[in-house]
Amino acid sequence: MTHVVAEPCVDCRYTDCVEVCPVDAFREGANCLVIDPDACIDCTLCVSQCPVGAIFMDSDLPPKWAEWLELNARLSRLWPVITKARGPLPGHEAAATQESKRDRLSERPGSRD
Ligand code: F3S
Repeated sequence: MTHVVAEPCVDCRYTDCVEVCPVDAFREGANCLVIDPDACIDCTLCVSQCPVGAIFMDSDLPPKWAEWLELNARLSRLWPVITKARGPLPGHEAAATQESKRDRLSERPGSRD
């Protein structure tokens, strides 16, 4: 089991979630975070911190975002650890209500802590 960051995070990246993670499981991309499934202990603390409801237990991941299980596993091996909140991305207000953001996911790594 693991928790998974899904599509609502894209272009929002609020980063509130990283502050409560006891095992530093979040990894930072240019416009999204993912969770390292090998680090996540399923504590669930991050779920309620996300303003856009982007974080799910893998077994509760909505079918339309099933690909995000693989994306979290793959991209977490490429992106740096993030442990401190940075505030949301510019334009997060609009992005928070947009659907179908998958094609805007950047696979570029974010900046390091
Ligand atoms: Fe993304 Fe929500 Fe965290 S938008 S960065 S999963 S608080």
